[in-house]
Amino acid sequence: MTELGPSTWPPAPIRTERLVLHESGARDRAAFIELFASPEVGTYIGGARSRDEVERAVPEVPGRRPGLFVVDLDGAMIGMITLDRRDAERPGHVRPDGGEAELGYMFLPRAWGRGYAAEACAAALDWFGGAFPGEPVVLCTQTANDRAMRLAAKLGFTEVERFEEYGAEQWFGVWSADPAGHDGARTSAAG
Ligand SMILES: CC(C)(COP(=O)(O)OP(=O)(O)OC[C@H]1O[C@@H](n2cnc3c(N)ncnc32)[C@H](O)[C@@H]1OP(=O)(O)O)[C@@H](O)C(=O)NCCC(=O)NCCS
Repeated sequence: MTELGPSTWPPAPIRTERLVLHESGARDRAAFIELFASPEVGTYIGGARSRDEVERAVPEVPGRRPGLFVVDLDGAMIGMITLDRRDAERPGHVRPDGGEAELGYMFLPRAWGRGYAAEACAAALDWFGGAFPGEPVVLCTQTANDRAMRLAAKLGFTEVERFEEYGAEQWFGVWSADPAGHDGARTSAAG
């Protein structure tokens, strides 16, 4: 996975009805550690790491790179969204040369089930559609990850293919901004 590219980064903080998306800072470190050490969060993405290991690995300012949004609720981080370039060597592509922008999302379990991930991802896709006009976004998740699958559908991703990777069945989908200016996420995330 490589970074999205610096041209349009960082954008001004993005405000939604309930949330703010922004570049990470030192004050987000504790929440990053909580995310990476959470067994629930890690269930379908390689498992949780021990808190000690995560404490040692997470830098003072975690996640400061193009394409990584911290998501705040009432001034505190509840999750993160990533838009990175998908490695050409991995299975799952919509462009022959690879390097598609790929959406990723991780939220703290206490923030699940409130529509926050959908609201934040819709805003991130909206930003992407403006910054990279006409570019598709891809997404890959284990088919067993019900919440991630429901979120992908809600955001307007459609299935391209399924394949085995990391010993599990993966769902690979694509999203494109509506050329009329309304992205697929915004029009369907409320449902
Ligand atoms: C994947 C993940 C981000 C999904 O989070 P989520 O909170 O379930 O997703 P949403 O924001 O779409 O919320 C959906 C739920 O909020 C409910 N909801 C409650 N209030 C709502 C509101 N005001 N607006 C919209 N939805 C609302 C919806 O009904 C829905 O409930 P359901 O899941 O029972 O159907 C989360 O499970 C996660 O972080 N998992 C760990 C990391 C991971 O696996 N990431 C995926 C890697 S590909």
